[in-house]
Amino acid sequence: MNTIKLERGTDKLAAVATLTFNRPDKLNALNDELLGETEAALRDLYNDHSLKVLVLTGAGDKAFVAGADILTMSKLSSGEAHTFGARGHRVGRMLEEAPFAVIGAINGFALGGGLEIAMCSDFLYASDKAKFGQPEINLGVIPGMGGTQRLTRRVGIGMARELCLTGKMIDAQEALRITLVNAVFPHAELLPKVYETAATIASKSQLPIRAVRRTITFGADVPLATANELELQAFSALFGSDDQREGMGAFLEKRAATFTGK
Ligand code: COA
Repeated sequence: MNTIKLERGTDKLAAVATLTFNRPDKLNALNDELLGETEAALRDLYNDHSLKVLVLTGAGDKAFVAGADILTMSKLSSGEAHTFGARGHRVGRMLEEAPFAVIGAINGFALGGGLEIAMCSDFLYASDKAKFGQPEINLGVIPGMGGTQRLTRRVGIGMARELCLTGKMIDAQEALRITLVNAVFPHAELLPKVYETAATIASKSQLPIRAVRRTITFGADVPLATANELELQAFSALFGSDDQREGMGAFLEKRAATFTGK
């Protein structure tokens, strides 16, 4: 792998992997190779049934991902742009539908495609140095990897329209204010805080982790009654699992639960 790094934790983080976008000299900009390697890595991670949490972050001190690669995009025809954007959408969908939780650790610029990929995480924690934006309009285009839609769903239509129409950058505190990120930490504390939360999630059973993600992801796009039905199906399907019996039994016996993912 040339453009991403994949690492697995140990001990409390044994069920946690970290995918680092790794083109620091280009602020981790998304090119074909990086998107292809990310897609392949996610395909492998889908088959890793012991994985509970994936952390996404960027290499270097400056950027999470400063956008889709503008040199690549400058040479695309309309048809090629469609293929390029579709690849980004595919990666985004794989992140959203993954059988493990995804936390975005935003360590610097999260712009354009970088913000679009970040927003496919369950939630984002940011460094106080992070900056966010959808600057595509400055390049004569619009977001093409889900930005217009996921930003609207995360922060509301007015804020999404303002960010996409002005192309302006906002800092981490403003991102917190508009609930684009869940928390902001001093730069050096970002990853320790992300891993603290990852360890908390990793201590749970995989079965409800998957169910929470799928119910929220798929429920977001359908009428409320249908979404609630999805929830009811997912809730009831967990009954009879070893982990449901263990979780409830452990509570009643006043001991810590030990989950097996079965
Ligand atoms: N695509 C391709 N290359 C990019 C890039 C992108 N989205 N973002 C940064 N880079 C490259 C720069 O061209 C530069 O490469 P070079 O050293 O070979 O010239 C390198 O990364 C460092 O970036 P630089 O612009 O020198 O850093 P900076 O600290 O002065 O500015 C930004 C940082 C993020 C403000 C600036 O890089 C920028 O505006 N990037 C583009 C953001 C954007 O429009 N993204 C959306 C694309 S759809």
